Amino acid sequence: MCFQKKKTCSLHAHLKTSLVMCMERFFFKSRIAWLIMLLSISYQWVAAQNSPVRERLLLDNGWRFYLGDITPPVIKGHNESYNNAKAGKAWGAAAPEYNDNQWRLLNLPHDWAVEQGFDSTENLSQGYRKRGIGWYRRHFKLSPADKGKHLELQFDGIATYCSVWFNGNLVHRNWCGYTSFYIDITSMAKFGEETNSIAIRVDANAMEGWWYEGAGMYRHTWLLKRNPVHITTNGVFAHPVKLQPQKWQIPVSVALQNIGQLPQNVKVTTALYSPKNELVTSATTQATVASLDKQTAQLNLLVNNPLLWSIHQPTLYKVVTTVENGSQKIDTLVTKCGFRTTRFTADSGFFLNDEPVKLQGVCNHQDHAGVGVAVPDALWAFRLKKLKEMGVNAYRCSHNPPAAEFLEACDSLGIMVMDENRNFNVSPEYVQQLEWMVLRDRNHPSIILWSVFNEEPMQGTEQGYEMVRRMSAIVKKLDTTRPITAAMNGGLFSPINVSKAVDVVGFNYQIGSYDRFHKENPTLKLTSSEDVSAFQVRGEYVNNPAKHILNSYDTERAPWGSTHRVGWKAIAERPYLAGGFVWTGFDYRGEPTPYKWPSAGSFFGIMDLCGFPKMAFWLHQAQWLHNQPVLQLVPHWNWPTDSIGKNIKVMALSNVDSVTLWLNGKLIGGQKVDKYEMNTWQVPYKPGKLEAIGYKLGKQIAKYQVSTTGNPVAVQLVADRPNVAGDGEDAMPVTVKVVDAQGREVPTANHSVVFEISNNANIIGLGNGDPNSHEPEKGNQRSLFNGLAQVIIQTKPNTDGEVVLKANVAGLQSATLRLPIRKSESRPSVPVVFSPMFLSQWRISPFSNAKPNATVTISDNDMNSWLPAKTAELVTFNDGNYALFNTKFTLSNYAANTKGKIVAKKITGKAEFWLNNQLIGTKNTAQPADIVLPFTANNGNYTLTILIEGEMGKKAGLGGTVAVHTQTD
Ligand code: GAL
Repeated sequence: MCFQKKKTCSLHAHLKTSLVMCMERFFFKSRIAWLIMLLSISYQWVAAQNSPVRERLLLDNGWRFYLGDITPPVIKGHNESYNNAKAGKAWGAAAPEYNDNQWRLLNLPHDWAVEQGFDSTENLSQGYRKRGIGWYRRHFKLSPADKGKHLELQFDGIATYCSVWFNGNLVHRNWCGYTSFYIDITSMAKFGEETNSIAIRVDANAMEGWWYEGAGMYRHTWLLKRNPVHITTNGVFAHPVKLQPQKWQIPVSVALQNIGQLPQNVKVTTALYSPKNELVTSATTQATVASLDKQTAQLNLLVNNPLLWSIHQPTLYKVVTTVENGSQKIDTLVTKCGFRTTRFTADSGFFLNDEPVKLQGVCNHQDHAGVGVAVPDALWAFRLKKLKEMGVNAYRCSHNPPAAEFLEACDSLGIMVMDENRNFNVSPEYVQQLEWMVLRDRNHPSIILWSVFNEEPMQGTEQGYEMVRRMSAIVKKLDTTRPITAAMNGGLFSPINVSKAVDVVGFNYQIGSYDRFHKENPTLKLTSSEDVSAFQVRGEYVNNPAKHILNSYDTERAPWGSTHRVGWKAIAERPYLAGGFVWTGFDYRGEPTPYKWPSAGSFFGIMDLCGFPKMAFWLHQAQWLHNQPVLQLVPHWNWPTDSIGKNIKVMALSNVDSVTLWLNGKLIGGQKVDKYEMNTWQVPYKPGKLEAIGYKLGKQIAKYQVSTTGNPVAVQLVADRPNVAGDGEDAMPVTVKVVDAQGREVPTANHSVVFEISNNANIIGLGNGDPNSHEPEKGNQRSLFNGLAQVIIQTKPNTDGEVVLKANVAGLQSATLRLPIRKSESRPSVPVVFSPMFLSQWRISPFSNAKPNATVTISDNDMNSWLPAKTAELVTFNDGNYALFNTKFTLSNYAANTKGKIVAKKITGKAEFWLNNQLIGTKNTAQPADIVLPFTANNGNYTLTILIEGEMGKKAGLGGTVAVHTQTD
């Protein structure tokens, strides 16, 4: 095996002279040749965007779903036991021919838990939702032109445990709801008319967390078609590393696989493109990949003075990797990358691109209002933009790897990520989960830390230390560029503990130990990995324990946590701490601490489950936005008349020097801003206008006012973006509010709103951020909670024009939102086919010269006289003129006497068709012909026998498929 590295040179616009030298010295003798190469690589870049050499097709549409378990029939007979042990012979709902046409038809992503009602007998941690077991099935066809290609199914995430069958073969068992898995189906695939079947049993009774985890196929699913020699899934690693000032390199490793029958020698080229799609540099090598083997090609790109990726300017480059066999391009893949350096230090915290940056982070789970964990891609961007608006620069994926689309959004929005492994276990299955996370995610410039665990009881023991030592080594085999951390909530001072096995020590709720630990371990690098755990209910300012309401003045917290203000002050004042991660950015379902039923969602969020800001949002803006003035007042100013004259606590959230507060034009008082504690006043309530004016260096720089509103008169719908793509995937949260006659939002409104939507879009979920609400999250109706609700809409595929959303409230003026649809192609996807029941489990009798009895039964212990037979394949009648083809199938879930037919294609030879020992049709000619037989479907077991009369020495039999069709197909 040899890789010959060609010499490469880097190209940069500013370096014209060295460019020419470089060209002449290393590459080509003439400018023309150089230009041709530039053009050809630029062409490759364009082609790679929509490459004919690999197809990645979305497999989200057209799944059949059944809520509940379907136990396979109990096997008692010898014949069945024998078959049960054979490839392709799965039983029950896992069998390709299982009838699923009564099942619900849906598109992914799907979370069935969020569709369930709340139930006090269910698990509080999972948001009091029933989870249970469910089945999914999908059929698809492959063209004969796909024969020979490498075919792979990719499942991005299924909660929680699942078993997957492909064409009746058990092909995968997955034990983690947060890891993806990839299944090579090449050798089991069918081409042409016959459909391929995927059956998945999902066990969501299994749990991996103490938060809401959803249930079902909640992330995307894909079908990949690649050439026999191809780049493997997650096979390119191209992460830039700085060598010296202005000089960078990208060591590129390209993992190749060859499923062909001969070894192949291929050329691997990797080319770097700037954000303007200009070629920067490229490198080429050769690789020989043996048949049914893998090989990794190593290349190196040298880059001078690239534009850096940062939180303010997240510049992304593209590495385009191409594989050629002779003159034929056989694979190409685009990998995004970013040039940035990160450094944790023991005394001065964290540095991004050699500049100190305090990590202003939040921890989050992965569910959103209305949709549960089945979050459409567009909602990730929505959530991240909200966080960015708040001043967040870092995100901890607590406590599991996120969706791939989430990381892409972090790369392009400039948010740093702590990517976290779910299960603390070093046995092979779990090692694979850890390795998968690093392999999938290691190209993302946003990722700055790998976290191997959260709060493991073994953290202060030698076992814990030994496990982390191993996990760290496993990660480092795959990526040496990022430090490893573990989120510790104790054990820090034990003689042997995990802090000695990580690169950066993560503290969960260790405010009281920061200084002692730093003093005793001055060389260790430290960050808070989780802090705060304070409670707020959006729009509430008075505690009401009976109603599970907690005020939003930042006074309420979990006993182990702190208020937001105390938590941040402790971090901000300690330069040795890299930063912190507030528990949490958004509310989530489950863990309704400090309450239980009927509370079903968390109180920890800086924002509620919809992403509507609580007071903590403006508090963090004041503390985390450094280049813009922030000034906000709480509470609202709509108090009941019996509050008049009583003191109301008013709080200003600001980062200016001083603030004056005015009520109805009268000065209440002025205060110097306390940047950690913020400022409060007791103000005797009087309806009207409360106003704050902010000053910096003696100058008025900011103003904020809150007014007492009139009664609600109208509903208002506010779109998050000016338009929506008509691709069937784009989703948008729309804010619902009610306003008074002057158009002012009424912050205390709790009206019930009914929605109507045009038929080019769907409402996919509803929410209002109330952790105590039991209203359904699906449907077309939702109440406002403290003035706000959210309705999430999603376009249908291939739509244009506009989405029309109406909101009606009894007694108020309705609202109509007309949202232009941006014409936009749907992503290439696997066409949905509604499959008849293809009968595939055939056996053929021995040949005979005398016409056999078609009602003969096969002896249960005879596995050898009758051999397995296939459809769409004729057999040579070399031992007699007659043969019987026999199959058994079961129908369930049919209404009595459902009309149907059996279609047997290309039956060759004269034939008789016997169903449950009754003759149902004959074919009197020998030529191949399609036969349609009458059939009435009733639940039960069927035996179909086809008696074929052939000619000695010639081919006859089942030349095509045999399928049961019913009117429910
Ligand atoms: C932490 C834990 C989080 C969450 C939080 C609530 O101990 O890591 O997952 O449970 O407490 O305060």
